[in-house]
Amino acid sequence: MNHSLKEKLSQYQQQVEEAIDALLPVAATRPSKLHEAMRYSMEAGGKRIRPILVIAASKLFPSKSDPLAAAVAIECLHTYTLIHDDLPSIDDSDLRRGRPSCHRQFDEATALLAGDALLTYAFQLLANQYREQPALAAALIADLANASGSERLIGGQMEDVDNEGKPIDAETLRFIHENKTGALLTAALTMGLHFCNPSPELIQHMQSVGYHMGMTFQIVDDILDATSSAEVMGKPVGNDSAADKSTYVALHGIEGAYAEANRHTAAAIAAAEALGGDNAFLIELIQMLSSRIN
Ligand code: IPE
Ligand code: IPE
Ligand code: MG
Ligand code: MG
Ligand code: MG
Repeated sequence: MNHSLKEKLSQYQQQVEEAIDALLPVAATRPSKLHEAMRYSMEAGGKRIRPILVIAASKLFPSKSDPLAAAVAIECLHTYTLIHDDLPSIDDSDLRRGRPSCHRQFDEATALLAGDALLTYAFQLLANQYREQPALAAALIADLANASGSERLIGGQMEDVDNEGKPIDAETLRFIHENKTGALLTAALTMGLHFCNPSPELIQHMQSVGYHMGMTFQIVDDILDATSSAEVMGKPVGNDSAADKSTYVALHGIEGAYAEANRHTAAAIAAAEALGGDNAFLIELIQMLSSRIN
């Protein structure tokens, strides 16, 4: 990763960490166990990719409003999906972001409720922080809700769980990846773009960036589950094959999965180039995500 990209990323990560701390209810808020659990999972680190994509997309063209509350909102929603994904009835995973997962640190009921609360809080943030700009607030809320509902993120999670132990076909696998992961990454980009008052054509180009970026992101996640270590990833590895999950590695092997990821990366970059505007940072992010190691 080049020096100036690294600097920019850590500067944005810092801004996101500060905004998370400022915008989440303090841990002592009653019931404190719930608010502690919410903060525990939110403050555990993580790459903050979705918030950074919101910020990057908001800087493509001139905009007047601050995207940080939207960046925190999508991280709340993402963190809820991780807490629930780790539960014994889903992926049964004990480690997340280098710490015991929420249900291991607290208990299952608290993890379930902390996830519920973060999901709702994402929409509270959008409605409350952008109330002075109702059209912007409505667009942000619609994008996040559409991406995370039963036909997209949760639909992808449902088919992921339902296809454990079954033979995989390429169409089902594409559906799972596009929805469980691609939908929210796409929402990060289109939410950021809404700060620039975009045309419908621009939104369409951005959806194409998000689709291909999302596919690459989950294919690389599958590859890393098969090739990396818990120390580097901050979450267990080898879980997918142990659970006989539908993954690109299971279907195509490591080399084949890399080939698919590279194909999607090239398509994402082509779509990002078609956006125009100040797209250099976004293109660097797409490249970085395709070669990430954690
Ligand atoms: C993990 O997302 C879940 C997937 C969609 C693969 P991230 O890899 O963005 O996790 P954090 O936020 O950095 O912990
Ligand atoms: C997670 O997919 C997608 C969501 C949480 C919506 P994974 O189950 O592969 O994510 P990790 O590997 O546990 O982070
Ligand atoms: Mg899962
Ligand atoms: Mg999982
Ligand atoms: Mg995974």
